[in-house]
Amino acid sequence: MTTIGESITLAQLELDPYPALARLRADEPVSHVPDMDMWLVTRWDDVQLVHDRPDLFTSATEPSWLNTVLGRNMLGSDGDEHRRLKDALQPSFTPTATGRWVSERLPEICDELIDAFDPSGTDLMTAYAEPIAVRALQDSLQWDNASWQQIGEWTRGVCTGLANFANDPELSGIAARANAESGESIHERVVPHLAHTGLTPDEIVNNVRLCMSGGINEPRDGIALAVWALLTHPAALADCRGDDTLWRNACEELFRWISPVATSTRQTTADATVSGVTIPAGALVAAIISSANRDERRWSHPDRYDLHRKEGPHLAFSTGPHVCLGAWLGRSTVRVAVQHLFHRLPGLHLRDADGVEIRGFEFRGPVRMDVVW
Ligand code: HEM
Repeated sequence: MTTIGESITLAQLELDPYPALARLRADEPVSHVPDMDMWLVTRWDDVQLVHDRPDLFTSATEPSWLNTVLGRNMLGSDGDEHRRLKDALQPSFTPTATGRWVSERLPEICDELIDAFDPSGTDLMTAYAEPIAVRALQDSLQWDNASWQQIGEWTRGVCTGLANFANDPELSGIAARANAESGESIHERVVPHLAHTGLTPDEIVNNVRLCMSGGINEPRDGIALAVWALLTHPAALADCRGDDTLWRNACEELFRWISPVATSTRQTTADATVSGVTIPAGALVAAIISSANRDERRWSHPDRYDLHRKEGPHLAFSTGPHVCLGAWLGRSTVRVAVQHLFHRLPGLHLRDADGVEIRGFEFRGPVRMDVVW
């Protein structure tokens, strides 16, 4: 008899993961998917367990694609090394360090971008969400010797390398160029700012590259997805317009409903039993955040986007030692960008309400999003 896992393909998950994840949660919560050669863990409690037990589910996988492409970094390490790297960079992303940027500079950046929109309509991803996401990271790191467009292009190159599992030489070339050029720029400007952390220049470069790959696409997708969620749920949008405190709920509920980072990858250090299933030592495990965030055991009507939900926190920024380094900055950036856009453009709507294509399994977001106002 074939298992559910055997019938699942990555291509199908990239298109729309939610039906397959619901089947797994119900009948095969810990499942080997041969198409990915990975164990998928899909229920809320089990996803938390994977995140909370680095001794059993390590981030320092062997081999580590993340470390190979970016150079050794905090998400590809555990224990003391992880702590040292994270402690050194955390102060750059706290509310104390970035709060003023969020409340004062970010609204100005939003205005500048909106003022430059093509009046006949625009792709919100490229004209608004991406530049804001790049600027948030760039300004937090005082990375001022390259334009945001250039950093955006390097980020695409670095991410090309991360997705190049088949080792396509052309893609490797793009990634190598982006790594080299961004590395040089980070060395020149960001390394001196972070010299006081005690990290070596290479450690700074590798972890800034990690922040590019992990800290730009996610706020970008979060902004666009939250706008899309509100435009396709007019009653929720009307509620936000009537009560400014609800913009926060709108964004948090979006992170739960469609988590931009949908999986986290770990490797078992020994045989590990989860929900009665034994995963062998050395296996790759994907803790499916997007599935935990729709687990019927945790949420009522989980497939519904409901900004009045009062069921507590979601897992979109993970939990345990690898909880997102930029969680405060990421969620604040998304909220301010979304709120500001709707305030500035009260007539905002999708050019084609059914035409927004949302893609991706590991990372999920719109391909583009055409809006008019
Ligand atoms: C809306 C935005 C964001 C979302 C949804 C998000 C989500 C996540 C998730 C789920 C993880 C855990 C990955 C894992 O355990 O394998 C993570 C880790 C991480 N994130 Fe974010 N992130 C966001 C924004 C940012 C930003 C703005 C930065 C920039 C500093 C950032 C930097 C990182 C880093 C460096 C890690 C690794 C932390 C560690 O290994 O301890 N993220 N993020």
